[in-house]
Amino acid sequence: MELINRPRRLRRNGIIRDLVAELRVNPKKMIMPYFVSEKGTNRIEIGSMPGIYRDPEDQFLELFKTDFDLGINKIMLFGVVSTKDDKASLADNPSNPVMRAIEQLKNEYGDRLFVATDICLCEYTDSGHCGLIKGDRIDNDSTLERLAEMALAHVRAGADCIGPSDMMDGRIGMIRETLEEADFKDTIIMAYTAKYASSYYGPFRDAAESYPQFGDRKSYQMDFRNRREALKELQLDLEEGADIVMVKPALAYLDVIRDFREQSPEPVAAYNVSGEYSMVKLMVRETLAPEKELVMENLSAIFRAGADLILTYHLRDILKNRWADE
Ligand code: PBG
Ligand code: ZN
Repeated sequence: MELINRPRRLRRNGIIRDLVAELRVNPKKMIMPYFVSEKGTNRIEIGSMPGIYRDPEDQFLELFKTDFDLGINKIMLFGVVSTKDDKASLADNPSNPVMRAIEQLKNEYGDRLFVATDICLCEYTDSGHCGLIKGDRIDNDSTLERLAEMALAHVRAGADCIGPSDMMDGRIGMIRETLEEADFKDTIIMAYTAKYASSYYGPFRDAAESYPQFGDRKSYQMDFRNRREALKELQLDLEEGADIVMVKPALAYLDVIRDFREQSPEPVAAYNVSGEYSMVKLMVRETLAPEKELVMENLSAIFRAGADLILTYHLRDILKNRWADE
């Protein structure tokens, strides 16, 4: 048989495959999320997220050192507190575990560590909702003020980047204006631009203890049936001053990541969320699937779709096991 085109020529061995591979999974393009808790004396593993922990704030610096030495130098912090109320009072309180962690980390590592924080009220409201409640609604405009206060507090504590994940209208503009007025001109805003109302956040809510106490998040997070609507959010966040725009979750929204890649002048982040991580861990446990291959396949798909950077809970495993080294 004479064939002119034989695509298998370029698949013959690993050396050739590496030579012609269209992308490399690069850990330098990844951010690792952490849960910092005010309570407890030990790190607690999240039941639904094997290998991911809730770390007490007074031990975080020591616990994180191992990860920093592994090569993790870009992180996203989430707070876990027990005192919650209708105003999310702890969100911008100096004794909040995230603020303490930022101060300690920046003190220790300075610019050798990039610290981003999640800006949202759901970790601090008694309702577990991302915004303040008025009557039977999540109130947009009063929430914006609290978000701006929270963002300013994190930035004052030393955060390099803030990630508003609340999905209120106008939040990026409000926060940008607040930061400019306070003379924080270099703070990066990584907007959770197309954040869908997703069942893939379940394990995160175990970790952050942030389940909504009633209803769901569909009046503010996006409807998973919609693609064009993501472009509307993109346009708004760019106009309002976002430096990085995010699609979340990642794997079920590769089309949206591609849309952003084509339409956004700013870098595109993708959040490989808690449920996506749990799915891999469960599959590995239940079917003995090769974890490295699964993780590389998922992350390659997200990069291939057009993401510039990925937030992923897999980062520690990738570095520890040197999965990205070959
Ligand atoms: C807070 C927030 C959530 C996530 C990031 N920020 C949860 C939610 O919106 O319910 C999810 C991250 C993940 O699942 O890994 N609003
Ligand atoms: Zn929230």
